[in-house]
Amino acid sequence: MANFFKEMARTGPHSLEEVRLSLDTDLADHKQFIPLLKEHHDFLEESISVLIDKEATDFQKQEHLERFFRLVEMHGKAEQEVLYNHLKANPEKEARLEGFAGQDEHDLAFQLEAELTGMGYKTQWTEEIAAKAKVVAGLVKNHIKEEESTMFLIAVENMTEEEMEDMRDAYIQKCIGYLINDRAETIFAGDWKMGTHTDTDSFHH
Ligand SMILES: [Fe+2]
Repeated sequence: MANFFKEMARTGPHSLEEVRLSLDTDLADHKQFIPLLKEHHDFLEESISVLIDKEATDFQKQEHLERFFRLVEMHGKAEQEVLYNHLKANPEKEARLEGFAGQDEHDLAFQLEAELTGMGYKTQWTEEIAAKAKVVAGLVKNHIKEEESTMFLIAVENMTEEEMEDMRDAYIQKCIGYLINDRAETIFAGDWKMGTHTDTDSFHH
């Protein structure tokens, strides 16, 4: 209940520290996998809404773009390494196609991130940067909508409860690894297969 009132009183987006703490809580509470993914989508939406808002200032957008990419790295990479890999190996064609399509969309988002980093968005804010930031925010917004309306339902239909629980645990471990490392692209979060989680020790540093 205390958390409920804390959420009611919230005025701004969750800080990365709050996101980090929520991972521990969700792991301890055995939060279900799909509601957990949706919670992380909500964290992303907090920045997407600013990036596509005509009224937001350049400074707000610049600040949110960095937050947004940190969360895209965390959620996106953990999700593709766990959920998408599992979907891609599913006996059902419908599930496999969802996994491949999701991966393509993530690849596009990461490509735009690389372009924006190359354009120096952290130190300057130009019209070209603002336009590309809006494109990547819109792409991820639609991607989230598609996942919540279609992919997650297909995943639930084609996977057992045990698989969902294993994926939840693996996903959270990967999120923690990606979030605590501010150069997420340099860390190896380990291959993950159902029942044989092979994360390396370095991942937990
Ligand atoms: Fe997602």
